This record gives sequence, structure tokens and C-alpha cells, in this order.
Amino acid sequence: MKQFKARIISNKVLLRYPGAEYYLMDLLADDKLSELIPGQFVMLKCGGGTILRRPISIHSVKPDNVIELLYALSSGDQSLPSHHQENDAIKTNNEKGKKLLSRLKQNNEVDVIGPLGNGYKMCDRSKSLLLVAGGIGIAPLRFLAERATSMHKSVTLLMGARYQDGLYPRSLLPETINMVNIVETIDMHSSYSKGMVTDLLPQYVNDHDEVFACGPVAMYKAMEEKLSELSFERPVQISLEVRMGCGFGVCYGCSIKTRQGIKRVCKEGPVFNIKDIIWQEVKL
Ligand code: FES
Repeated sequence: MKQFKARIISNKVLLRYPGAEYYLMDLLADDKLSELIPGQFVMLKCGGGTILRRPISIHSVKPDNVIELLYALSSGDQSLPSHHQENDAIKTNNEKGKKLLSRLKQNNEVDVIGPLGNGYKMCDRSKSLLLVAGGIGIAPLRFLAERATSMHKSVTLLMGARYQDGLYPRSLLPETINMVNIVETIDMHSSYSKGMVTDLLPQYVNDHDEVFACGPVAMYKAMEEKLSELSFERPVQISLEVRMGCGFGVCYGCSIKTRQGIKRVCKEGPVFNIKDIIWQEVKL
């Protein structure tokens, strides 16, 4: 982890749908970055009087110290990954911070801390991966797919979104993940409780060596139920997205209950085994 200045190369709206916009930000770091692992994130200083930094997933890594971030700006946060036990100060800071980030222009500078957290771990022996993305959960999974295909693993990506306009554009998937078979499911219901992308699991889960997911808590709960119905015993790695204070393990603002005790999402996570989280304790 280090703190560095980064220049914005571009910061543009990727897609819009009722209640939310996704932004893609390309940042040029002023120094060589260490090896980044899919699932890791950075904390960005947003300025404008916000105190806390904003955690953003690394979406892609480009040559010459350029990292790409994908983040969502919402008008009601109903379509975004849910967060647990958030405190109002953090929530207000996050919303204001995201708005400020979306206004930054080319050549503006941002203060970054990262890379942070423990990312996804691919087993060397695995040949085929199943990725399950709910909404903005595509952010770290595209990076994982890119890395996996560069290691000659085959990847199936199940992508879910509430609205057609909320689906990550296929045209923006890089060439290296051409092998990805994308199945899009549209959840037109008013809540994520059905987690429709998870309805696809029975069809795909047993044909893959490893499963990785990123999405809202309701999707994980639906996944856990489905996997237990299927008696699926292999580890499933999920990335938790929660509101954060410091981002590097000091404030305990991101703590969650797991079967191994209290863990900090920013430090011990954000990637966990789905079975390690006590989901009843995680508030939507
Ligand atoms: S955000 Fe401070 S400990 Fe995780």
C-alpha cells in the first residue's frame, strides 16, 4: 500500500439507467505500481470538504501505470450493492464524494492510497472459472476475467442487472476476454431479493473449477441458498462492498461478523469465502 498522486486521463459516464450512472475513470500514477490483484481497491480523496476517502474497485490495469476504476453514482442507491450498518456520517461523505469524483476532469489530480485489501485468489490448477456479477459488481470481475484469460483459463461470466440499460456493454469487454460467455438476466422486480442472476447457477456451477462473485448482499444471500440446495461444497469467493472509513484497517468502521470472528472488510477482505460470512448479521 502506498499513497500517491494520479492524473486523470479520462472520467466519463459509461452507462445510465433509472436512478444511477456508472463512470469509468482512467488514472495515471506518478510512480510504478506494485502487482495489482483483481478484487483489490484504492481509496480516493474526493476534496470539496469531504473528510473520508472513497473506496473504488480496480476495474482494469493498462500499460504504463494506468489503472481504470469503475464506480457508480446513484440518485437513491437502490440499485447499488447494499451496505451494512453504515453510519450516517460515512453515508453522507460517500454520496458527496462520489458526486465530486464524477465532476473531475482530464488532467485533474487525485490523491490515492492503494492497492488495498486481499483480492481474489485463483488456484493454479483450475482451468475454468465461473464469474457472477450483479450490477456494479462487474467492476472487479472484469479485471479478474482479464487476468484469468491471460493465464489461459476459460471464463464464463454471468452478468445480472435490474435494467437493460444497466448491463455492462459487451463491446467494452477487452479482447483478452473474448472467451467469456455472457448471459444477461434482467431483474425488473422492485428489489434484488430474487437475485435472478443466481437462477443461472444450477446450469453452470458444476462445470467450473472455481466460482467468484461480486454484487449486492441480497445476491450473495440468494447464491448461498442456491448453492446449498445444489450441495455445492467448493469454496466460492465473494467481494463485499461496504462503506469504509480509513480503508486500511485502523478505524474498524467496516467490521463484519464471520464464522472466524470479527473481520475488517478493508483489511482481511474485501474477498471472503461465501460460507464464512454470517449473512443473518449483515444488514441490507
Ligand atoms: S475502513 Fe477502517 S478498518 Fe476498514
